[in-house]
Parts: sequence; C-alpha cells; structure tokens
Amino acid sequence: MEKVKMGIIGAGVWGETHASIYREHPNAEPVAICDKDEARAKALAAKLGITQVYTDYHEMAAKSDCDAVAVVTPDFLHADIAVCMADAGKHMLIEKPLATTKEDIARICEAVERNGVRCMVDLHNRWSAAFNVAKQKIDDGTIGEPWTAYIRHSDIKWVATDMLKWAADSSILWFLGSHSLDALRWFFNDEVKQVYSVKRVGILKELGVDTADVYLTTVIFQNGGIAHMENGWVTPNGNGNVNDFKCSVMGTKGQVNINASNHNLIQIATDECMQIPDVMVTNMVFDKCKGLSYESIRDFVDRLVDGKEFRVTLEDARRTALALIAIHESADTGEIVDVVY
Ligand SMILES: NC(=O)c1ccc[n+]([C@@H]2O[C@H](COP(=O)([O-])OP(=O)(O)OC[C@H]3O[C@@H](n4cnc5c(N)ncnc54)[C@H](O)[C@@H]3O)[C@@H](O)[C@H]2O)c1
Repeated sequence: MEKVKMGIIGAGVWGETHASIYREHPNAEPVAICDKDEARAKALAAKLGITQVYTDYHEMAAKSDCDAVAVVTPDFLHADIAVCMADAGKHMLIEKPLATTKEDIARICEAVERNGVRCMVDLHNRWSAAFNVAKQKIDDGTIGEPWTAYIRHSDIKWVATDMLKWAADSSILWFLGSHSLDALRWFFNDEVKQVYSVKRVGILKELGVDTADVYLTTVIFQNGGIAHMENGWVTPNGNGNVNDFKCSVMGTKGQVNINASNHNLIQIATDECMQIPDVMVTNMVFDKCKGLSYESIRDFVDRLVDGKEFRVTLEDARRTALALIAIHESADTGEIVDVVY
C-alpha cells in the first residue's frame, strides 16, 4: 500500500483536521467523507476536493474503495462504526477514547482481531516534545524509577458549553482524561490497578450542560506507582490557553516538570484578555498543519505504510478506556475500584 486511500467518518471540527492531514501527507489521500449531516459532509468534501460523500457509514463501508478510515464521531459513537468498518476490511484510526462502555470496547477489539485489520487510537500526548523527552529521561534512568506523578489536564468552560454539542453525553474524563491516563501508563510503564475518584457537579449543570465539572482521581499502579490526576471542564473562559496542562513525575533520583499550557512561547494581548495559544499542539504555518496533535495522525499513515507496530496499540487504548470506566464508577459510588482487564 503506497498511497493510503482514507475515508473520514465525522466531518466536524476534528474530522476536518484528519481530512486536511491526509491531504497533506505524501503517502495518503482523503477519498471519502461520511457525516449524517449531509450539508456538513458536502461542505468539507467541496473544501478539500473529495469526491465520495456519504451520509450512511454502512453505505460507505460497502461502496468506498478506501483502504482505511478515521472514526471521528462523538466519544460515545465510535463502536458501531468501528465494527462495521473492521467487518468491511478497513484499517482504522479511531479518535480517543476507544469507546465508553465495556461492551463497546470488547466489540471493537473482537472485530479488529476477527478481521485482521490494523487499528490505532489517537492518544497523541506521546508525540508532544515535552512528554516524549520526559519519557526518554525516565527510560534512560535520569530520574530513577518513577515513584509518584501529578497531572492536570483541564479545559476552559467554552469547550463543554459551546464547542462540543454533545458534552452532556460525555465527560472531561473521556475527552481529556484519556490523554492524561495514557501518558501516566506510558511514564510508569505499568497498568492501573486501582482508582479512587471524587467529582463535583454544578457549574456546567447551571449552564445547561449536564456533566460533571471536575474529577480528582488517585491512580494506583500494579507495581506500586501512585499518581494524582485532575481533569476539569470549568477553567474560566478568560484563561490564556484553552487547556490547563501540567505534569510532574517524581522519580527515585530526580523529577521532570512539564508546564504545557502557560509556556509563554507566544502571548497575544487585546483589551479583553491575554492569550497564550497552544502553538505546540495545533497551528498553521504557510497553510500547513503543525503541532503534536497532527503528528499522531501522520504517524498512523506512516506506520500503516511501513507495517511497523503503532506507537499506541489497541491494547494501550483498551486498557486506558477500561481504567477510565473504573474512575467514573469510583466517582459515582465513592468506592475504591479495582480495574478489571
Ligand atoms: N485528538 C484530539 O486532539 C481531538 C480533538 C478534538 C476532538 N477529538 C475527538 O474527535 C471526536 C469528534 O470530535 P469533534 O470535536 O470533531 O466533534 P463534532 O461534534 O465537531 O463532530 C462530530 C461529527 O460526527 C457526526 N456524526 C455523528 N454520528 C454520526 C454517524 N452515525 N455517522 C456519521 N457521522 C456522524 C456529526 O454529525 C458531527 O459532524 C471525538 O471522539 C473527540 O473526543 C480529538
């Protein structure tokens, strides 16, 4: 497979990103778009010069000659599409999270296995220069054995109230906690054993979005590592950066600290506020997509072509999603929950 023909299901904010990157990539081309909102699918197809437009993913699976698909529908709508595409023999890049129920996670993994297709989930923190160098310093022994960690990955309220029409059917744990927990598993090189989480509800509910404001979680790893993970959707809209993203890993011989949001790499001031845009994550340079959240998508194509194992395996995504289900359960029940794989 030299030039991967890509189909994109979900022509929303992030579906457009996927399609743009496949168009830029020398070894890929976006050939098909599917969205149940026909106008949206047609508009994106016209913008990027894509000829195959579908409103039903079953029809796309049956008729399109695409080799692989990107599943870029809302968090809780990945499974039926992924199973259908695997049954049609399509390789897949599924947006995070893999899925949001144990049944859906199992259905996707079973369909991938049964059909012998390849599947990656877009947990992109591993492509962040800061997170990647931290991982190198853990692996080369610079900070010794990772002992404890703290991670905060939160969004301003606007993401839940305006950007996502479906935030009430998801959670900040699914939306950003997926990235946080994948990074922690990667740093500790270990699996989550137990979780204890508390949540607070009210601010978003008052604004008409019925989902939790914030989760504070203790994560206990099988080999003894412990971490605190904070994920909220209620950072004030005036914050300089959409994300509030900090991480610190304390090892037996040293420590790595990451400030991925208030980095002050660039400041843009107006009479209303000061912005510190996430140029390390997403930006356009001479109309080309630059930033870590694009690199994971490019790497999917690269590895589909060269046949190497994906840097985030389906098993990584499965374990991350199952641990997140346990965290939701803990926050709902007030109990410590064992993660069952
Ligand atoms: N990796 C990242 O940095 C990143 C960033 C943003 C979003 N995401 C993920 O991408 C996914 C999509 O998010 P978004 O912000 O683009 O959402 P969005 O609401 O902007 O777009 C979702 C699109 O899916 C379409 N859709 C829903 N059900 C469908 C179906 N059955 N068939 C075809 N189309 C259907 C909707 O009509 C909509 O156009 C989510 O899982 C989200 O977590 C990832």
